[in-house]
Amino acid sequence: MPEETRKRSAALPNRISIPHGPELDAPPTFPADAGRSDEESLEAVKALMLKLAAGRSFERLGAIVQEHLFTGGKRLRAKLALASIDALDGPTEVAVPWAAACELLHNATLVHDDLQDGDPVRRGRFAVWVRHGQAQAINAGDLLLMLPFIALEHVPVGDDGVRWQLSRAIARRAEQTVRGQSLEMCLLHSGRWDWDSYAEAATGKTSALMALPVHGAAVLAGQDPERAEALSNCFKRLGLLFQIQDDVVDLYGDKGRAEKGGDVREGGVTALVAEHLRLHPGDKDWLIGILAKPRDETSIADVEEVSERFRSGGALDAVIDRIRSIEAEITAAPILLEEPRLHQVALHLVEMSLKPIRHLLK
Ligand code: IPE
Ligand code: IPE
Ligand code: MG
Ligand code: MG
Repeated sequence: MPEETRKRSAALPNRISIPHGPELDAPPTFPADAGRSDEESLEAVKALMLKLAAGRSFERLGAIVQEHLFTGGKRLRAKLALASIDALDGPTEVAVPWAAACELLHNATLVHDDLQDGDPVRRGRFAVWVRHGQAQAINAGDLLLMLPFIALEHVPVGDDGVRWQLSRAIARRAEQTVRGQSLEMCLLHSGRWDWDSYAEAATGKTSALMALPVHGAAVLAGQDPERAEALSNCFKRLGLLFQIQDDVVDLYGDKGRAEKGGDVREGGVTALVAEHLRLHPGDKDWLIGILAKPRDETSIADVEEVSERFRSGGALDAVIDRIRSIEAEITAAPILLEEPRLHQVALHLVEMSLKPIRHLLK
C-alpha cells in the first residue's frame, strides 16, 4: 500500500450488523408544485434525491444510497442553492432540482471520504463502508456522483446552453474536490505542513462544493458565466472557513462520532497542525510521529496530548484568528456588496458554520 494512502483499520468487516439504523421507506413521490416554504422545498429536495437514487426497480445499490440519504446531515449545500436562487431572483421552479444536484454530489464525497479516511461513523451512524463493505461504498459513491447530472433533467429550462453550463459546473467542482482530497492525503508524507498547502487542499476538497450551489444559482438567474464564477468564488472562502471550523470541531466539539480526534488518528494535516508547526517548529518530530502512526495505534492519550498542546501552545487561538479574518473578508467582499441579498445568505452561512465552535470564539 503506498505510504500516502489513508491509514485504514487493518481488518475491515465486509458487512456488520448494527443495533439501530434508519428504516428504508418506499421513496416518496416528488411534489411537482412550486411556491413552497423553505421546509417544503427541503422536503422536495429530499424526495427528489430519493427518487433518483431508487433506480428503475428495487435494487440493492439504490437501497444503500437511500439509506445513506436518510441520515440527512445539515443539508447546507441544498439550503445554499435554494437561498441563492431566491436571493438572485432565479426562477423558483429550478431551485429544487438544482439543490438536489448539489446535495447529491456532496453526499457522494462523504461516502468515499469515510472509506478513504477509515472513519467508521458518519452523522452518528455507521458509515456506508462499514455497513455494506468497501466495494458497495465505492458503488454508492459512484452512483451519487452521477445522479447530479441526471437531476439536471428535472431542471425545467428550455435552453440547453444553461443545462450545459450547469453540467460543466458540476464536473469542474467535482474535479476540484477530488484533487483536493488527493492533495490532502499527500501533505503529511511530502512534508507540506505549511498553511498555504493546507489551504490549497482544504479549498479543493471543501470549498468547491460550497461554490457550486451559488455558481449554478447565478447561471439559472441569467448572470453571465464570468460573474457566476466570481460570485461563487466568495463562497469558496466560506468553504475554507467551514473546513477550518470542521478541523476545530474534530478536537474541541461534537461531530457525531464515537471518538474525538479522527483527524489526528487519520494523520490529517489540519488547520491546527499547520498553525502549531508554524508556532513550534521544534515540535515537528513529536507531532508528525503521532500523525504518522497507524490509526489503530493512535491512543486516546495521544489525542488528548495533541489537543492540549494545540490549545496551550496557541495554535487554537491562531486558527480562530484565521477564521475571524476570513469572516471579515467575506463581510466586506465588494462583489457580494453589489448583491445585498446574496451577501445576507453568505453572512447567514458564516453564522451557521461557526455555531459548533461559538463557545471557543468568545
Ligand atoms: C462535512 O460536511 C464534510 C466537510 C466538507 C467538512 P457537512 O458538515 O456539511 O456534512 P453534513 O452533510 O452536514 O453531514
Ligand atoms: C471531507 O473532509 C471533505 C469531503 C468529503 C470532500 P473531512 O474528511 O475533513 O471531513 P469529515 O470530518 O470526514 O466530515
Ligand atoms: Mg473525513
Ligand atoms: Mg477526509
